[in-house]
Amino acid sequence: MSVICVIGTGYVGLVTGTCFADLGNQVTCVDIIPEKIEGLKQGILPIYEPGLEELVERNVHAGRLHFTTSYKEGLDNCDFIFIAVNTPTGSSQGRADMHYVESAARGIGQELDHNAIIINKSTVPVGSGDVVKRIILNNLERPDVSFAVVSNPEFLREGSAVQDFLSPDRVVLGSSDSEAANKVATLYLPLRAPMVITDLYTAEMIKYASNAFLATKISFINEIAQICERLGADAKEVAAGMGYDKRIGRAATVGVALKEIRRFSRSIAPMWRWSASIPCLLRVVHLSWEM
Ligand SMILES: NC(=O)c1ccc[n+]([C@@H]2O[C@H](COP(=O)([O-])OP(=O)(O)OC[C@H]3O[C@@H](n4cnc5c(N)ncnc54)[C@H](O)[C@@H]3O)[C@@H](O)[C@H]2O)c1
Repeated sequence: MSVICVIGTGYVGLVTGTCFADLGNQVTCVDIIPEKIEGLKQGILPIYEPGLEELVERNVHAGRLHFTTSYKEGLDNCDFIFIAVNTPTGSSQGRADMHYVESAARGIGQELDHNAIIINKSTVPVGSGDVVKRIILNNLERPDVSFAVVSNPEFLREGSAVQDFLSPDRVVLGSSDSEAANKVATLYLPLRAPMVITDLYTAEMIKYASNAFLATKISFINEIAQICERLGADAKEVAAGMGYDKRIGRAATVGVALKEIRRFSRSIAPMWRWSASIPCLLRVVHLSWEM
């Protein structure tokens, strides 16, 4: 059993905290919105996810899941601190808004009074783990405290978040401190999922590369669907026929809602921005981003 603090109780944070509690850990979820925390304490969830309400109820009842607005209370005695706050890309010309992650890192630095591992689940540009580390160091009140930063990007989908968390295709962990990454891996062992344990930048990049690939795949198959329509071919059958090839995979989905395509495109917008600043031209990614 480990003691875990999760910062942010949205889709990712609430699902992560609740599922880790269900795996037998002691979890405290922290959020800056008092009404959200008050609601959760009364069993009112801010989101709907199949199965989540029952899981929250069971684990609160068992004394393994707690909610608070206080970093001090959340960080008390914890071994692992997950950052799962929002990183919107809607404004600031496609850049990920790091304001919430930075504020979470400041909060951790100000209240951390013992050694711990900080794990970033928010979707952040490559190099953000270093930023989080620097902010925590700059705000640490106790210089004797040591900590490591691990990147653990999240791949769950809204609507099947609990299922996706408990049966992930893979768990990705990256850190410059491999011992810390291995300790985080032990939390996931009960899920029996494939694990990729790597360095910090690679883990951060895996998230963007995965989203960029999915956006490209969806844009591609929708383009094929347009040709099919004109030629009288059945686009769904074409996708199914392609998908049996293991090099292509089964997930080529025709007719994915525009909303879904935009969601992926928005999420990879920061990658397009920082790749241009390196500079490194990503032609394929740019094309799917523009669609
Ligand atoms: N929703 C998804 O399907 C999904 C999937 C994979 C990855 N992600 C990524 O995970 C991260 C979280 O996404 P989400 O959908 O859970 O966001 P969300 O908006 O649902 O929840 C974020 C929560 O963090 C809280 N918060 C913000 N700043 C805080 C702070 N300083 N301290 C404590 N709490 C704070 C907010 O009040 C909010 O409750 C984002 O980076 C997102 O891109 C989301």
